[in-house]
Amino acid sequence: MPQIAGPSALVIFGVTGDLSRRKLMPAVYDLANRGLLPPSFALVGFARREWSHEDFAATVKEAVKENCRTGFREEMWNRLAKGIRFVEGSFEDDAAFDTLNETLTALDHERGTDGNYAFYLAIPPKAFPTVLNQLRRTDMAEPTGPDSWRRVVIEKPFGHDLESAKELNALVNSVFPEESVFRIDHYLGKETVQNILALRFANQLFEPVWNAQSIDHVQITMAEDIGLGGRAGYYDGIGAARDVIQNHLLQLLALVAMEEPISFSSHQLQTEKIKVLSSVRNIEPIPENSARGQYGPGWQGSEEVVGLLDEGFSPTSTTETFAAIAVEVDTRRWAGVPFYLRTGKRLGRRVTEIALVFKRAPHLPFDDSMTQELGQNALVIRIQPDEGVTLRFGSKVPGTSMEVRDVNMDFSYGEAFTVSSPEAYERLLLDVLLGEPSLFPVNEEVELSWQILDPVLDQWASSGKPEKYEAGTWGPKSADQMMARTGRAWRRP
Ligand code: BG6
Repeated sequence: MPQIAGPSALVIFGVTGDLSRRKLMPAVYDLANRGLLPPSFALVGFARREWSHEDFAATVKEAVKENCRTGFREEMWNRLAKGIRFVEGSFEDDAAFDTLNETLTALDHERGTDGNYAFYLAIPPKAFPTVLNQLRRTDMAEPTGPDSWRRVVIEKPFGHDLESAKELNALVNSVFPEESVFRIDHYLGKETVQNILALRFANQLFEPVWNAQSIDHVQITMAEDIGLGGRAGYYDGIGAARDVIQNHLLQLLALVAMEEPISFSSHQLQTEKIKVLSSVRNIEPIPENSARGQYGPGWQGSEEVVGLLDEGFSPTSTTETFAAIAVEVDTRRWAGVPFYLRTGKRLGRRVTEIALVFKRAPHLPFDDSMTQELGQNALVIRIQPDEGVTLRFGSKVPGTSMEVRDVNMDFSYGEAFTVSSPEAYERLLLDVLLGEPSLFPVNEEVELSWQILDPVLDQWASSGKPEKYEAGTWGPKSADQMMARTGRAWRRP
C-alpha cells in the first residue's frame, strides 16, 4: 500500500510561476484525490499579489482543473480548499515573512499541521539567498520539537557552475541540515527512470551484457520539439547543457552505469551514484567531443516556426539550445565505452531515451550481401513518450534466401499495465512530505555533475557563438561530426 503523508503544510514560493501552475498545484490535488494527503494538510502560497486566501484558492482551482490527471471532483476540491492560505509580500519584506510564520502557527491549531512544514522554492535562483535568510531569521527552518520537521525543496538550476553550486550548498546547509534538503530533479520522479533499477537489478538477463565486453557505446537523448517562446527570461544565459545535461542526463547516466547498491536505502543508492559520477571523465579534446547549437527558423512537422532570435533572445546571445557531450566512465565495467549525452529544443520530435548500443558480432558466417540491413544490436530504454523498452536485433527476412535485417521486440507500459503512471511531481512531493530522500540528488552529486560539465562550459565560453541548426532537424552538423569521427552515428529515434 502506498504510504500516506502525515500532518503537514506545503509552502510554495513562486506560486505565480509556470511550474506551480502546470505541475505543483495539480500534483497537490492529484495526491489528495488519490487519498495520499491527510485531512490535516495545508497549502500556503506566498507572492507579491494583492490576493485574499479565496483569490489564491481560485487560482489553484483553475490550475488544477486545467492540468490535473485524476479527474476534477468538486467535493475533493472543497476539502483541499479549506486548508489553502495566501500570504502577500516580497522576499525582502520582513513583515510578510512574520505573517507567514503566524499563518503557519495558526494552521497548526486550525488544521492540525503539527509544526511540519515543507518550503518549496520554485523561484529564480538569485532569490534563494534572500528567502533562505528570511526562513532563518524567523526561525521557520527550525523544528519546534523532536517530533516535528522542517524541509526545503529546491528547484534547479542549482548554481551555474561548481563554484556557485558550492556557495549555494554552503548557504542552504547553514539554514537546513542536508537531510532536510530536497533538491528536485524531476526526471528521478519518472516511473520509467525508476524502472532502470528494476530492469537492471531485478533481472538476470541483462547483467552479463551490461559492460564494456558487450556494449560499444551508450547514447542518452532528451529531445524536445518545443521552442523557448516565453521562457527567454529563465533560459537566456543558462542554455541546454546547464538546464538538462547537468541534472537530468547525468542522473540517467548514473543510474545506467552504477554498480548494484547493497540495498535500496537512499544512502546506498546515493553512494553508488556518487561513485559513478566521481569516475566520469570528459573525452578529450573537448571541442571535437562536444557540440552546441542554436535553432534558427524551420518546420516542425507541417508548422513553420521562428528561430530563437525571433523569440526575445538578444542577437548576441550565445545561449545554446542544443548541447552534446562525450564522456567515459573510468571503471572496470565501462573502460573504453563512450557515453554520448545530447539534448535540444526544436528537434525532430519529443523523445527521451537511453540506448545501449552493442558491439558487432565478432564473426558473421554470412556473405556481406546477406547482412547489408543488419545494424548493431541495441537495448533502448524509452523514458518518454511511449514509455517502454525496445530490444533491437537481426532476424532472417522470410523467404528462400538468407537475408538478415534489424527488427524490434517491444515492451510498452501502456499495453502491459492498466494503471497509469503518476506525474513525476506527485511522487516527488509525496516523498518530500514523507521525508523519503532516495529520489533526490544530494549536494555531492550536484557538485560532481558541475565538475564534469565545467570544462565543457569553459571551452564553449571562449569559442564564440553556437552553430545554427534548422528547427525540426536533429541539431547542428558538429553533433554528427563528433560521432562520425569514431565511425558512429546518433540514433534517429
Ligand atoms: C526541465 C527543463 O527541467 O525539463 C525544461 O528546465 C524542459 O527546459 C523540461 O522543457 C522537460 O521536462 P519533461 O518532463 O517534459 O521531459
